[in-house]
Amino acid sequence: MSYVPARVVSNESVYGSYYVLVARALRKLRRIPLPPQFSMVWVPGVDLLPLSYARYEDGLATFFYKVVGEGTKSLSLKRPGDFIAMSEPVGKGFLEVKSPVFLAGGTGIAPVLHYSMYLEEFSGMWGVKRGELAEALIERFPELKRLAVASEDCTFGLCGRLTDHLDKLSLERDAIVLVSGPAEMIKRVCGWLKSCGRGPGFVIAEAMVKCGLGACGSCVVGGLLLCRDGPVVGCEAFG
Ligand SMILES: Cc1cc2nc3c(=O)[nH]c(=O)nc-3n(C[C@H](O)[C@H](O)[C@H](O)COP(=O)(O)OP(=O)(O)OC[C@H]3O[C@@H](n4cnc5c(N)ncnc54)[C@H](O)[C@@H]3O)c2cc1C
Ligand code: FES
Repeated sequence: MSYVPARVVSNESVYGSYYVLVARALRKLRRIPLPPQFSMVWVPGVDLLPLSYARYEDGLATFFYKVVGEGTKSLSLKRPGDFIAMSEPVGKGFLEVKSPVFLAGGTGIAPVLHYSMYLEEFSGMWGVKRGELAEALIERFPELKRLAVASEDCTFGLCGRLTDHLDKLSLERDAIVLVSGPAEMIKRVCGWLKSCGRGPGFVIAEAMVKCGLGACGSCVVGGLLLCRDGPVVGCEAFG
C-alpha cells in the first residue's frame, strides 16, 4: 500500500476525547477518497490507524476520531506543522445511493460527514452519549442539522439511545438505510429493519484492519474482506 506524507493543519478536541484533525497531503493521492472509504493513518513511530475520511477536498483531509488507546492518544498530541502519513483510500466507494437514511452512533458519524459533500438529500439520526458532543460537532459542520439527534444524557435532541427512537423514523418501504457505529447498535438496527420489512439495510462496517491489502484476512466481516470488498456490507452480515 502506498502512503502520502501529510502535515497537520489543525487537530482539536471538539468535545472531551473526540477530535477533528485536518491534514494537508504533501503529494497528490492517486485516487480521490469517496465515501465511505477509509485511510490507514500513520502516526510516526506508533501505529497505523484505520480512520474514515470525514472530508477530502483539494488535498485537505479531515478525520473525526475518538481517543481510545495508545494510537489515537498519540494522534491527538500532534500539533499544526507535525507530520503524519495517510494511505491511498482503502475499500470501495459506495455512492449508488439516492436520499439515503443514515443511522449513526458516536464516531460512526465520520463517513456521514464525507457523504454530505456528495449528496443533495439525506436524512436520519445520530446517537451520542453526551448531547454536548452533538452540539459542538453540529456547530462545526452545520450540514449535520439534517439529522435528528438522540442523546443518552437527554441534553440534546431526543432523550435516550438512537435505538429507542427507531419507530419515529418515517422510512419509505424501499429507503436505503446506511448504519454505522458500535456493533451492538448495528445489530439492533439491522434486526429492526428485518422485523419491519424495511430496507435494504447496509452497514459501514469496522473490523480489525492490519494489512489493508486484502492479504492477511484479519478484517473478515460476513465472509467479505472489509479492506477489499467493504467497508459497506449488507445488514445480513450482522445476523
Ligand atoms: C474501517 C474503519 C474505519 C474507522 N473509522 C474511525 C473513525 O472515523 N473515527 C474513529 O474514532 N475510529 C474509527 N475507527 C476505529 C479506530 O481505527 C480505532 O479506534 C483505533 O484504531 C484504535 O487504536 P488505538 O491504538 O487508539 O487503540 P487500541 O489500543 O488499538 O484499542 C483500544 C480499544 O479500542 C478498540 N478498537 C481497536 N481497534 C478497533 C476497531 N477497528 N474498531 C473498533 N474498536 C477498536 C479495542 O478493542 C480496544 O478496546 C475505524 C476502524 C475501522 C476498521
Ligand atoms: S486487513 Fe488484511 S485482508 Fe483486510
